[in-house]
Formats: sequence, C-alpha cells, structure tokens
Amino acid sequence: MSTTIAPEVLKAAAAEFGTPVYVYHAEKIKEQFESLKSSFSACDVRFFYAAKSLTNIHILKYLSEIGSGIDCSSINEVELALYSGAKPENVLYTSNNIHFSEIERAVELGVHINIDSLSNLKKFGEKYKGTYPVGIRMRPNIMAGGNIKIATGHDKSKFGIPVTQLQEVLDIVNTTGLHIKTLHIHTGSEIKDVEVFVKGLSVMFELVPHFPQLEVVDLGGGFKVPYKPDEKGTDMELLGSSVAEAFKKFEAATGRHLQVWFEPGKYMVSECGHFVTSVNVLKETGDINFAGIDTGLNHLIRPMFYGAYHKIDNISNPDGPLKNYQVVGYICETDNFAEDRPLPEVREGDLIVIRNAGAYCYEMASNYNSRFRPAEVLYRDGKLSLIRRRETMEDLLRTQLF
Ligand code: LLP
Repeated sequence: MSTTIAPEVLKAAAAEFGTPVYVYHAEKIKEQFESLKSSFSACDVRFFYAAKSLTNIHILKYLSEIGSGIDCSSINEVELALYSGAKPENVLYTSNNIHFSEIERAVELGVHINIDSLSNLKKFGEKYKGTYPVGIRMRPNIMAGGNIKIATGHDKSKFGIPVTQLQEVLDIVNTTGLHIKTLHIHTGSEIKDVEVFVKGLSVMFELVPHFPQLEVVDLGGGFKVPYKPDEKGTDMELLGSSVAEAFKKFEAATGRHLQVWFEPGKYMVSECGHFVTSVNVLKETGDINFAGIDTGLNHLIRPMFYGAYHKIDNISNPDGPLKNYQVVGYICETDNFAEDRPLPEVREGDLIVIRNAGAYCYEMASNYNSRFRPAEVLYRDGKLSLIRRRETMEDLLRTQLF
C-alpha cells in the first residue's frame, strides 16, 4: 500500500502557509528508499540521492537520517550536503564541465568525485597523482531517457568521456599514476527499460580490466516513476535482480568483487511532492475553459520545458461534475500546466494540487516576472513544518546594489 497524503493535510497547509505552497511527505521518501533497498538486496550497493532534484537542507538531512548518501552536481550542492550534516564519505560530486577549482575544493572537503572530461582528469592526475582515489564519468553512447532534453548517454551528449576515448584516459592514468576507484555512467532520466541499465553495465564491465584498482561501478540515476494515472515506472524488482545477476556472473568470471552505486533523484522525491495552488480566475472563451492558478512556469516549469505530464486534482470539489480545463499560470507568457484536462468543476478559490512535484520543481523555480518563490513545507510524523518561507520584496532586492 503506497503512502499517500490526505487532502485535509494539503488544505491545512494552504490555510496555514498560504498558496502556492510545496508540501513534501517525508514518509513517502522513506517508502521509496526502502523499496530501493529491498529491490537491490542481492547487490553490494550504495545509494546517493541526486540532490539536484530537491536541495532543501531539511530534505537532505532527512535522507542522511534514513541512510542515503548524497550525489551533487555543483560544489554548492556539496557544501549544502555537508552543511546539512552529511559526512564527506557519504557525499559524491559528479561534475560536468566544471572549472578545476571546484574539484580542488571537493578534494579539500574530502568527498567522492567523478570527473567527466579528459582535461580535468589530466589536471587531477598532475596535481594529486595516485593520492586521492577518484571516479571517471564515461559516456556509454546509449540513447535512452524520457525525452532528448533528459537523455545524457548518447553519442552527441556533452556528458562524460566517450568510451571510444578509453586510450586517452589510460594514457593519462598511466603517465600520472591516478588511482581510479570508480567508473560512472548516467544514461538519462525516466528510463523505464531495465535493459538499458543492463546494457550500460556491460559497457562498464568491458572497461574494468583496464582499471586494476577499481572498486565501484556507478550507474547514475534515471529510474522512471509514474506521472500519469495507471502509468508504470521502472520494474525495480526486475532491475535489482538483473543487476545482481550481472555482478555475480562478472565476479565468477573475473574473481573481482565490485560495489554498485546509484544516484536516484526522481525515484526518491518526485512522488513525495504536492504543489498546492489556488484558482485566481476562470475564463470561458469559446470552447476553452481556462483555470488560471496563482503560480506559473516560474514555480514549476516541467510541463512547459519538457512537455511533462503532471497529474492535477481539484481537492476543493472532488465530487463535482467533470469538465475539461486548460490549467494555466499567471506569467506573462504561455504557461499551460495541462490542456483539455478533465477535472471536477473548478471554481475561483478552489485548491488545485499538482502532483509529482518533489523532483525538479521547486528546484527549477525562478523569480521570473518578479514573483516570489513559494514556501516549502515538510509533512512528517503527522505534522506540517515550514522548511522554507515564501520570499518577500526584500529577497528580490537583496542582491541589487544601491
Ligand atoms: N546522476 C546524474 C549524474 C544526473 O545527471 C542525474 C540527473 C541524476 C543522477 C538523477 O536522475 P533522476 O534519477 O532524477 O532521473 N530536470 C529534468 C531532469 C534532469 C536530470 C538531470 N540529471 C526533469 O525535470 O525531468
């Protein structure tokens, strides 16, 4: 039975903190983490939550508390993870096209590092030789992911070092004496097909013999979670058993034991998030019923940026007659959350909840149209607590000079 949040809780959050407001359900995060652990119980595995999906430090703290590591995509995320109390050995920095100084800082902080360019690998080798075990992000040249914007492993992608440049990698490793501890890939986001992970793993296994000190194969994140009603996510049980089987065979054939790491973002936090908004304006124009809500692409850009589907509920009138709506924002630009979406009759003032709002939602919010970013609330042990206040005019002015 999946953990859910009652409409009354979301109504209470709206009443106490105003709208729009992001509400995150802690126990749902835990449920996802437990299901990961059980799916991969036959593997020597570690999970590093992809912080980029939601970096509120209360969420980071909670994830550390339940036993997850934290994967970061900028040095600032590394600093936040450590600030939230995570230990350096539980923090991973998977960098992409960053300045070398960020890698130097990550070394100072003592976190795990995956390097994704020949250029930074060479600088790293020259500076640290074999003194700091490090990972290499490879590009497996596999096309996968929910859409091209979130596909990262294909042969035109900017991410990682193409597997075809293995010789260049080995030349750097051999001339500098680098200690390569990890090989990493991240093929994309929203990958449903278990075979994609298995194929990525076999690409990695082919590289392993070149790295005698290797301890870890890191397969990144990208598990698909359901967004649409009745949609199926990645079959995690099947994935867990397929990965365990592949490692077992590899170990039997080579005598080498390796650990597997994952960096799930959406899987951990997508479904825990509920974005509670209210209806400002209804507009009927010809055959379109617009429901204008008190938010826009400034707060949740996934539908506009990726064409992503988010389930939407009218929790104020759940039993009302169904009508089709175009749910739109208040930004001075076209910002459709949904088109032709059947919803129980919507009235001005109704609370409209956008689901799957945990991953890449608040995190991708902006101040476009000089709007304030919303508040974030954590629902844990039956209690609502404000974990980030709504912005104010002072926040908009804070970095401007007078
Ligand atoms: N590891 C690496 C190196 C990544 O680049 C990512 C995501 C992840 C792990 C986590 O992937 P996940 O498990 O969340 O699929 N903003 C887009 C998603 C961008 C993903 C970027 N990298 C969206 O809203 O769909």
